[in-house]
Amino acid sequence: MKLAFEKSSLNTNTADVIAVFVHGDKSLFSSEILTLVRELGVRIPAADNGDFNGKEGESLVIYVHRARHPRRYVLVGLGERKKLSFERYRRTGAVAAKCARSLKAESLAMFVPLVASEFQSVVSALAEGAYLALYKFDKYISKKSDSPTNVQTITVCAESSARVKQGKQTLHRTKTICEATYLARDLANAPGNEIYPESLAEAARLSAERCGYTAKILDEREIKEAGMGGVLAVSQGSVRLPRFVILEYGYEKKRPVVIVGKGVTFDTGGISIKPSAGMAEMKMDMSGAAAVIGAFEAVARLKLPVHIVGLIPIVENMPSGSSIRPGDIIRHYNGKTSEVDNTDAEGRLILADALAFAEKFKPAAVIDLATLTGACVVALGHHASGMLGNDSSLMTKLKSAGESTYERVWQLPLYDEYEKLIKSDVADVKNVGGRWAGTITAAWFLKKFIGSYKWVHLDIAGTAMLEEDGEYTQKGASGVGVRLLTEFLRRWK
Ligand code: BES
Ligand code: MN
Ligand code: ZN
Repeated sequence: MKLAFEKSSLNTNTADVIAVFVHGDKSLFSSEILTLVRELGVRIPAADNGDFNGKEGESLVIYVHRARHPRRYVLVGLGERKKLSFERYRRTGAVAAKCARSLKAESLAMFVPLVASEFQSVVSALAEGAYLALYKFDKYISKKSDSPTNVQTITVCAESSARVKQGKQTLHRTKTICEATYLARDLANAPGNEIYPESLAEAARLSAERCGYTAKILDEREIKEAGMGGVLAVSQGSVRLPRFVILEYGYEKKRPVVIVGKGVTFDTGGISIKPSAGMAEMKMDMSGAAAVIGAFEAVARLKLPVHIVGLIPIVENMPSGSSIRPGDIIRHYNGKTSEVDNTDAEGRLILADALAFAEKFKPAAVIDLATLTGACVVALGHHASGMLGNDSSLMTKLKSAGESTYERVWQLPLYDEYEKLIKSDVADVKNVGGRWAGTITAAWFLKKFIGSYKWVHLDIAGTAMLEEDGEYTQKGASGVGVRLLTEFLRRWK
């Protein structure tokens, strides 16, 4: 999809659908409608009789006859001005885009609202919402004729030329980040027979090649030689062999931020098998890995002045004659042992190796993303990722990047009292902590394997996998983490 900034005027723009944003406050609404009436030379009866009031989410299509052909304008409500936020602009952009799509438009122009302050952020939010709203995972649907064709071009327009340069720069960044989010969504939505450890590692390698960062892929033999017992153990029940991917981008002299992503390409639960209802969702159990690859893609293409290392342990968790059993004891990368009480708590087993491995990069910070616990979905639903860690200033930074991207995170405690829940009688630690505080005991397990670095764990079980469409997300994979990490790294000193 094309995304461009353009100086243009309402009257001369030739896009298939032209979106104009209207505030919901009564007096502002009337004056904005009056301006439109004057500029377009039409009447807008729906605005007079109250069918369209500029409320958030409202839209109204009007047809205007021009010399050559009739044009379609869509008025989109911004709601009350004092309640406007960048998230509101994202959603409003999404309304415009979905409206254009349902009109089978190939091109959409969006005019930046006149009174918009913080011009660049508004441009970016409108475009981001529109772009992300148009995502579809339909590569496996053969007959696409009854679904509307998708919009090919989005332009964000302003009437004055003063801000064209700013607008162009901003949209270049927005487009890069949206494309990276698309990549993460595509990887996570892809079924388990397409994305398995080898092919996910290959996708990372291709992204590295495309965008100018490096990818080193360890195969099973190298994983064994390195001593990553957790990765080996979880993968041993599958015919698909594990991979361990090491990504690197940026300025070598700076201590890196290490980003770790859970890459379980399919999670059946293993011998502690999951119920079949809803198991298909577990094709998205590599959403952490997808977020890491997406973030690398965005950061490298934007050439951000940061040094980052990505660590992605990749396995398929299957039940078979060669699977790990409850009771098995594993030795991880740093020599610590864990008792497998439940083979469905597999994510932490592979992350343990990656987090221990991270120490060798002398990281300035380590952030891991994982669809780790159903308990996190119970606690926070789909609107916030769970956040736990050992450094409050790092968590504050993630929280604020989360608020501005609306990929929000919410901290849960890692109090010492929870540690004993994962005490094992036969190994250094047990991989489950019983019925309560599942997200916290999972994080405590990870904490046993971290080095001396600052660390934050993000449990994205609820935010990465969606049960229904949102304003600019779709049922299925959200690509969460890409925008959050990119924004966090943009602000990293
Ligand atoms: N991948 C799942 C967590 C998950 C569940 C993500 C639902 C998204 C939606 C993870 O590997 C898992 O199975 N966790 C178990 C842990 C339990 C056995 C301690 C869980 O949450 O039930
Ligand atoms: Mn599991
Ligand atoms: Zn899992």
